[in-house]
Amino acid sequence: MYTPEQEKQLQEKTRELLSKLDQIKQASRQEAEKLVKELRDVIRYHDYKYYVQASPVITDYDYDRLFRALKELERKYPDLITPDSPTQRVASEITGEFPTVKHYTPMLSLDNAYTEEELREFDRRVKQLTGLERVEYAVEPKLDGAGIALVYKDDLFVRGATRGDGIYGEDITQNLKTIRTIPLRAEFSRYGINLAEIRGEVVISKEEFKKLNQERIEQGLPPFANPRNAAAGSIRQKDPKEVAKRKLEAIVYQLSYVEPPEKDPETHYESIKMLDSLGFKTLLKDMKVCKDIDEVIEYCKEWEEKRDQYPYEIDGMVVKVNNRRLYPKLGYTSHHPRWAIAYKFKPRRAVTVLEDVVFQVGRTGTITPVGKLKPVQVGGVTVSSVSLFNEDFIKEKDIRIGDKVVVERAGDVIPYIAQVLKEERTGEEKPIEFPKECPSCGSKLVKLPDEVAYRCINIACPAQAVLRLKHWASREAMDIRGLGDATVKLLYEKGLVKDVGDLYYLKPADILRLPGFGEKSAMNLIKAIQESKKRPLDRVIYGLGIRYVGSTTAKKLAQVVNSVWELKDMPLEKLMKIEGIGYKVARSIKEFFSREENINVLKKLQEAGVQLVKKAVEKISDVLKGKTFVFTGTLDCCPREKAGEIVEMLGGKFSNTVTSKTDYLVVGKEPGRTKLQKAQKLGVKTITEEEFLNMIKDHVDIEKLKKEEKKEEKKLF
Ligand code: IVH
Repeated sequence: MYTPEQEKQLQEKTRELLSKLDQIKQASRQEAEKLVKELRDVIRYHDYKYYVQASPVITDYDYDRLFRALKELERKYPDLITPDSPTQRVASEITGEFPTVKHYTPMLSLDNAYTEEELREFDRRVKQLTGLERVEYAVEPKLDGAGIALVYKDDLFVRGATRGDGIYGEDITQNLKTIRTIPLRAEFSRYGINLAEIRGEVVISKEEFKKLNQERIEQGLPPFANPRNAAAGSIRQKDPKEVAKRKLEAIVYQLSYVEPPEKDPETHYESIKMLDSLGFKTLLKDMKVCKDIDEVIEYCKEWEEKRDQYPYEIDGMVVKVNNRRLYPKLGYTSHHPRWAIAYKFKPRRAVTVLEDVVFQVGRTGTITPVGKLKPVQVGGVTVSSVSLFNEDFIKEKDIRIGDKVVVERAGDVIPYIAQVLKEERTGEEKPIEFPKECPSCGSKLVKLPDEVAYRCINIACPAQAVLRLKHWASREAMDIRGLGDATVKLLYEKGLVKDVGDLYYLKPADILRLPGFGEKSAMNLIKAIQESKKRPLDRVIYGLGIRYVGSTTAKKLAQVVNSVWELKDMPLEKLMKIEGIGYKVARSIKEFFSREENINVLKKLQEAGVQLVKKAVEKISDVLKGKTFVFTGTLDCCPREKAGEIVEMLGGKFSNTVTSKTDYLVVGKEPGRTKLQKAQKLGVKTITEEEFLNMIKDHVDIEKLKKEEKKEEKKLF
């Protein structure tokens, strides 16, 4: 966008303008005409350096001075205002969707420091303004989420707002009330405070962010670019119920207003300790009180090293004067307080060229466009390809092949295109054309009316088959060690395996045919495959790769059904009654089980001995705690194993042999003699099935249990 020569000139111009700011304010109409133009040019240049390249060449402080000079001139000579002046950008994020409220104190931004020297400069300014020789700082992470202001009156949470334009925010109290880390009541009165305004950030942990996006992609929704967008988008939803579903957290970091004023804590550290003691989630344990700027710098660097390990996305550290009594003396600019500064970590964004777009077929047939980039370093990692998610994403951003793009990478979050530099287009850029046919099998692609993605619906599509196998073997599913991507592909290509059922019929000789395998590794793989037969039901359900059924949904399903067969037979309406399962997911489950080829795979799995029923029992009560049960003979309600599972569900123990530790022997029809005799000898209490059912009837639906067992039996024959 700027040639090195132009950059040099603009930087010189910046210095020149900064040196004569005082004169600028007194400029005549004629001088002003020239000056506004120059100021706009340099401001635009610095905007580009800051926002696009993320490598600013002046401090926010100087930027702010230039900006204010321009505003001042435009105020004096309004006819000089042009619509493209940087002052005409709408700063407000207020959309009118929520009522607005005035903040108790303006919600300002923070000045930025990018280097150690800029931190020292900040320290010098603070010392100069306070006249002190030594100043203590509190240093804490700078969270990258959405800023909020919370008001507590007489110990009650009465109002929560977004930042808005800094003076007025949007009232999102109802949404914020759904966030568990915001106490609805906090005993400020303990500290003699009757009104408090607190600043904080709504964040979503990196882990939850990944899950949320995975679910969104599975559901055909556009994913969020980064945790910040996810948090900001989430708190401004219309329906608080939807907000509650996202795993949002609020972390507070500043006490911004207190009534009566004399109850204001002395230091920032104390104020956060107070908030922490009142039940807020704070940055207390990540904060350090530093005795001087050297210690501040050391702490900032330490955190820059470990930022990836932190559960939330952070983009720097905030350095605050610890003594709150110094705040009034230090004061504020229109943009930021002079008692704090943000030390920003090295940016993880870079500009590169989108050279090509390829189309990948996903496990469920979804076609994903993937951008091939001119390789570029983004925060120490080379990035050469990036997901473009779907056609809507491409259209919305108007991405074309040949475009210069800004690539961003947030922590361990996958890189994404944050921006397209449209002003740098040469006219040679080509629009991205979506294929009409599947790039793997050539069958015609379809787009369902309520979905954003194109899909290949050919069940025999090789790309999908290989991915289904990989998914089944993956860590979160059946966790088959040694069955990596390359092996899966080879097994498929050689025709040894067509679906997941075939895996369990592989013989060592088959594996030995594959390049790179010896006797030992082949045996190990066979062993790992066989071992996977015992995985719990939720992993099996997840492993099947049903569209929209991610690991979270699979866990929910495994809680309500006892076998894959039960899931197969569950009616749509019943599926939709399960929390978190809507029509789309339910329909997809039904569709999966309606396909004959899928049922055949399940049968193959069952015959091979893969466990398709629930084994691990979930505890629902403690009524049988400390009691050990043994069963003998045939029970009416269910098989003995099932009865044993129920005992475990209710906190008791189930065993097959009578010992002195046995509490009850439940005697069914045609009991075996050994157990009865042993029980009598050891003085173990014997009870009838009816007595047993009486013990559990308050916790288990016995009629339902009997019915289910009948159904299970029928199915088996
Ligand atoms: S203090 C008046 N502390 O960063 C300054 N802000 O870029 C009060 N932020 O608007 C803010 N972590 O939304 C403060 N530990 C922290 C922060 C933090 C993130 C946000 C905040 C602010 C923005 C400025």
